[in-house]
Amino acid sequence: MPDTENSPNHVAIIMDGNGRWAQMRHRPRLMGHHAGARRVQEVVRACPDLGVKYLTIFAFSTENWKRTQTEVAGLMKLFKRYIRREAASLLEEGVRVRFIGDRVRLEPALVDLMDGLELLTADNDKVHLTIALNYGGRDEVARAAKRLAYDVSMGKLDPKSICDETFPKYLDTHVLPDPDLVIRTSGEARISNFLLWQSAYAEYEFIDTLWPDFTKDIFAEVVGRFGTRERRFGAVTV
Ligand code: IPE
Ligand code: IPE
Ligand code: MG
Repeated sequence: MPDTENSPNHVAIIMDGNGRWAQMRHRPRLMGHHAGARRVQEVVRACPDLGVKYLTIFAFSTENWKRTQTEVAGLMKLFKRYIRREAASLLEEGVRVRFIGDRVRLEPALVDLMDGLELLTADNDKVHLTIALNYGGRDEVARAAKRLAYDVSMGKLDPKSICDETFPKYLDTHVLPDPDLVIRTSGEARISNFLLWQSAYAEYEFIDTLWPDFTKDIFAEVVGRFGTRERRFGAVTV
């Protein structure tokens, strides 16, 4: 058993590089997404031994609608297939699944599957897997502001009482702790609108591996490195 005392409680992953992985093999981009989906299960299963309680993965951003219709449709089909295929093992392995992002633009058949999986796994507590689907950090903040403004207009919230502890209660992630470690694969060093509010004090790891090549051993290595970092949260270490 690895030493998990200094493990990050919450790891968030920007799973990037599926398209390039496929292109390198002269195959359609969707094949890369399928290969990437297989890695998700591997990484989820590795969490308990690594001491990672919360795992949040970026599956589809609010900007990804700009891709070709073929790719978007293929991804939506893949998400439905993933949920149908993996629901039973996620339940059995103690994984509680949640989805964040705006569901309004998603097709009803997919939303039904998402709701069903959340309900099915609601009593699990071993690993908390959150899947960001049609998620954008700015969109989430804007939707939160809308709900907060509504509560003010209904007299349910006093504007004078709003502080940095009030606001996150309106975010999609309101039940989750903030991420301790954010990993992005594929060599890009940007966050692409992921968990903007929540990652204020996260540690970042940008690694060159493309997501379909991201094994549980690489995951263990990155999580292990986290334990050696000094987090100061603005204070001075004495
Ligand atoms: C990430 O892989 C998966 C999604 C955004 C759905 P990409 O599809 O962005 O892969 P690259 O960046 O083009 O290689
Ligand atoms: C971020 O990757 C979104 C997901 C991993 C779902 P992108 O490939 O969409 O990000 P950019 O376009 O390189 O910033
Ligand atoms: Mg990409």
